[in-house]
Amino acid sequence: MSQVPQPLGSPVVRREGRDKVTGAARYAAEHTPPGCLYAWPVPATVVRGRITAIHAGEALALPGVHTVLTHENAPKLRQPDDPVLAVLQDDRVPHRGRQVALVVADTFEAARAGAEAVRIEYESNGHDVRLTEDHPGLYTPQTVNGGYPAVRERGDFDRAFAVSPVQVDVTYTVGPLHNHPMEPHASTAHWADDGQLTVYDSSQGTGTVRDTLATVFGLRPEQVTVVSEHVGGGFGSKGTARPQAVLAAMAARHTGRPVKLALPRRELPAVVGHRAPTVQRVRLGAEFDGTLTSLAHEIITHTSTVKEFVEQAAVPARTMYSSGHSRTVHRVAALDVPSPSWMRAPGEAPGMYALESAMDELAVALGIDPVDLRLRNDPAYEPDSGRPFSSRGLAACLEEGAARFGWYDRDPRPAVRTEGPLLIGTGVASATYPVYVGGSTASAHAAADGTYRIRINATDIGTGARTVLAQIAASVLDTPVADVRIDIGSSALPEAPLAGGSAGTASWGWSVHKASTALVRHLRERTGPLPDEGVTVTADTGEETAVESPYARHAFGAHFAEVAVDTRTGEVRMRRMLGVFAAGRILNSRTARSQFIGGMIMGLGMALTECSTIDPVFGDFTQNDLASYHVPVCADVPQIEAHWIDEDDPHLNPMGSKGIGEIGIVGAAAALGNAVRHATGARLRSLPLTPDKLL
Ligand code: MOS
Repeated sequence: MSQVPQPLGSPVVRREGRDKVTGAARYAAEHTPPGCLYAWPVPATVVRGRITAIHAGEALALPGVHTVLTHENAPKLRQPDDPVLAVLQDDRVPHRGRQVALVVADTFEAARAGAEAVRIEYESNGHDVRLTEDHPGLYTPQTVNGGYPAVRERGDFDRAFAVSPVQVDVTYTVGPLHNHPMEPHASTAHWADDGQLTVYDSSQGTGTVRDTLATVFGLRPEQVTVVSEHVGGGFGSKGTARPQAVLAAMAARHTGRPVKLALPRRELPAVVGHRAPTVQRVRLGAEFDGTLTSLAHEIITHTSTVKEFVEQAAVPARTMYSSGHSRTVHRVAALDVPSPSWMRAPGEAPGMYALESAMDELAVALGIDPVDLRLRNDPAYEPDSGRPFSSRGLAACLEEGAARFGWYDRDPRPAVRTEGPLLIGTGVASATYPVYVGGSTASAHAAADGTYRIRINATDIGTGARTVLAQIAASVLDTPVADVRIDIGSSALPEAPLAGGSAGTASWGWSVHKASTALVRHLRERTGPLPDEGVTVTADTGEETAVESPYARHAFGAHFAEVAVDTRTGEVRMRRMLGVFAAGRILNSRTARSQFIGGMIMGLGMALTECSTIDPVFGDFTQNDLASYHVPVCADVPQIEAHWIDEDDPHLNPMGSKGIGEIGIVGAAAALGNAVRHATGARLRSLPLTPDKLL
């Protein structure tokens, strides 16, 4: 490794990379404390109803089975903030797949066999799992996810739209989607004799899992330690405590032994969350020169009867384009479906699919190039709030992307570029994601041997968090990155928020920067050699991160895509994708590129292959494994590029960074859908763009 300081932005290699590829890195289910038992859940087989009888005898008679936990014998929990986590507490079944029992056994195989032998009788009532535009249960919530108001009106949309010379009025649908991280949700729980609970959990943030477990078991937070040293992806589905952590801890308390629970892949879709489906009506009114005068984005979506979770898909329309008159509305119906939850770019990913597809429709209606249409409506101030942007690189991304992609070489007419039976087309779409940041605490330690150690409860969900935090510290300490040790991934470390909202690096990095800066000052002021134990300073950014910025702060981007559509089979193949992003300062070009293209590939899946279907009879998702839920594979990604523009934004944090974890997915599906329209002339308004819809 290099012995000279490497500036921020360098492509420093992931420090845990070798451990991961050699199998040395341990994930939640790879911790096996002495005496560890194995658990396997029993999912409900009715959609809405009550448990009337539980027959556990056959399961208990199997060799190795210790116990069958149900609502009749499971430890009673205190009410969690998230009602999804009140597992095995009563006889109610709110949706199919909800865990209704947990079998604990000596081995994984015995637990699984036991779960198959448990028989449960239900009283089943009729159910309602279908979201329709006229569903009588639709209502307008107070707020949507992120705390945004559900409804915003600016000006007089109806009047302005009615008099617009050019109008687009279109409705798009996006079905339910699942995160499906490579590592299933897993927890290994262990109660010590003194009542201390330790849980190895696959989570994006151990602090919230610790707090949840403390709440439900009536403990003080310091009586719980949650460890997520390595996490095989989460994409939001591990952003908060999930049921397996509570179930594993319950089973460990009940049996007096450590218990390991790795959720089976087939049971994940119903219990760890999904991106809720959306039906999105977009109306755009414009002058003939392309000036937007009116914009309405109205969403309907579903939540479960267990909790209200409202995908905030109309929120980005409050930021993207100038328009004198605007309406953004969300409505939701509580159905007998599994509870939705966070999925990469919640709100922005589905919302920008619709808005950016509608912008393409408007460009076609006007006969204006879609890049130019976006440039003409690039606002100087955030339309909804009137605040100035801390920086807004959308135009730069569109222009650089168009140049790199060769955008203007295209013939704008649809269905004119052919290669034998293939129709070829190109499409563009914008991207945006808000800048979030949270307060955190970090300690910085200087050892007598000249090395350093940073401690903070950050989580590395596959992003390279350790590496970038080491870079931030090293840049302040003016030392080689290799001399900075990073301890993350445990709630026993100084307090920090989860890896979510694309806010990890900004939040954690700010306190690492502050602690490192304080350490440098301390070392400068000090006289004489360091004591044998070195020195440690701690910094907390609660105050500075709580200050509300006078600026509208968002990352932006532009996607360009080329597709080939086979007129014989209806198959759409992505040929190349190119994204350009404006996300403040990029702190590690290697790991940033990986995040950007990872998001873009997830957008490719959303566009072409990924969808979870709720079976109206069985009430649960039919795609419940990676054979039926089609995420893109290498063969689906022949060429993909991510670039960024240098953005020097002084209104963010000491590193000058915006988040990069989510923006790559935002708008990607629209660029591909717009390319399909250009290729074929057919405007499809329902994802994914599978062959049945094209033929
Ligand atoms: Mo992300 S959906 O904010 O974990």
